[in-house]
Amino acid sequence: MLNFQYYNPTNYVFGKGQIEQLTKLVPAGAKILLAYGGGSIFKNGIHKQVTDALEGFEIIEFGGIEPNPHYETLMKAVAVIKEQNIDFILAVGGGSVIDGVKFISGAVHYDGDPAEILRKRILITDTTKVIPFGTVLTLPATGSEMNSGAVVTIAETQEKLAFGGSALFPKFSICDPTVIESLPKRQLENGVVDAYTHVLEQYLTYPHEGYLQDRISEGILQTLIEVGPKVVADPKDYALASNFMWSCTMALNGLIQKGVPNDWATHMIGHELTAMYGIDHARTLAIVGPNLYQALFETKKEKLAQYGRRIFNLTGTDDAVAQEAIAHTVQFFHTMGMDTKLSDYVKDYDNTAAIIVKRFEERGWLGLGERQNVTLDKVKEIVEKSY
Ligand code: NZQ
Ligand code: ZN
Repeated sequence: MLNFQYYNPTNYVFGKGQIEQLTKLVPAGAKILLAYGGGSIFKNGIHKQVTDALEGFEIIEFGGIEPNPHYETLMKAVAVIKEQNIDFILAVGGGSVIDGVKFISGAVHYDGDPAEILRKRILITDTTKVIPFGTVLTLPATGSEMNSGAVVTIAETQEKLAFGGSALFPKFSICDPTVIESLPKRQLENGVVDAYTHVLEQYLTYPHEGYLQDRISEGILQTLIEVGPKVVADPKDYALASNFMWSCTMALNGLIQKGVPNDWATHMIGHELTAMYGIDHARTLAIVGPNLYQALFETKKEKLAQYGRRIFNLTGTDDAVAQEAIAHTVQFFHTMGMDTKLSDYVKDYDNTAAIIVKRFEERGWLGLGERQNVTLDKVKEIVEKSY
């Protein structure tokens, strides 16, 4: 197994009714920026639950953080924090609001142009230079509630860029599975596929000595296959909702990536499709992932075969099982309501591969993936296979 440090300071507060705990979790006397998205929290009652729980605290509200949050919007929140002397941020939302708050947290005291955090991928590690924040998760999917990474879009240049650092873990995250009752079907489907792909990014690499990491990953995959279609059909079922929510967190809270190789090329290519065409994050993964496994088949096939045998009970040679495992993955994505071709979403896609390759070249991303063998040629091949 590879050496590792596993650091995760987020206080994860799980279960029905736990939003009430806010009053104990937010530092006493803090002046709070309550950050949220497009307003779903007003319709489903979460805003009321949050403000009731925070009675007595001084709260300034900042709404309008869009899906795939924009740098331009977030900089307005940075200005509010400076003007109002805010000392704690509460993110109430899905991955976009939480990621947006991570950026705001790091940008307020950033010494320089905050766009550098994104463009130069500055690691935010000094806890004395961030505004502390907590979250109330409303959409299980990204794991952002228990990790220190985030993705922000610079709308002006259509760039969707990842950043993070150890100072950007939430202080706490309240994860009440009943919040999913108001989620549109599409977002439930997205959540399952995003979390599933997070596991595959950390699992579908090459055989290694992280036996426990593999078994935990396989447990998350099996749980998502078991509860995914059912939770979309019945988000009010608490057993399904709680297993869905916990699986999404466990898929990307750092645990399964420690001591083992990691891929993440599907995400890097997928982010470009969101930046260029506005396709939902999870749906970009369903488009790219299976084609990446095909393009990288020779170097991934041993792990694909393990995945096929252990998750789908397939039998046969490594080659045959690995191929069938990819087909089963596509089938699962279809079951989860995903279209898996770029042409299902976009009419004019002929130049997509060339544009992505150019962007990666400019950023110096010449070899992604667990073996750095997702070269620009491979990126081109993967994107073209996705058409
Ligand atoms: O904005 P509101 O009105 O709240 O509506 C949202 C939004 O339209 C709605 N929604 C959220 N909770 C709801 C609800 N509607 C009804 N009831 C509820 N309880 O859902 C829509 C989508 O929300 P969003 O936050 O964008 O979705 P998600 O959680 O999937 O986050 C996606 C973002 O996270 C990034 C993605 O790239 C994307 O920008 N990711 C973050 C990661 C991380 N920090 O570790 C990892 C991921 O791979 C991902 O890249
Ligand atoms: Zn993702």
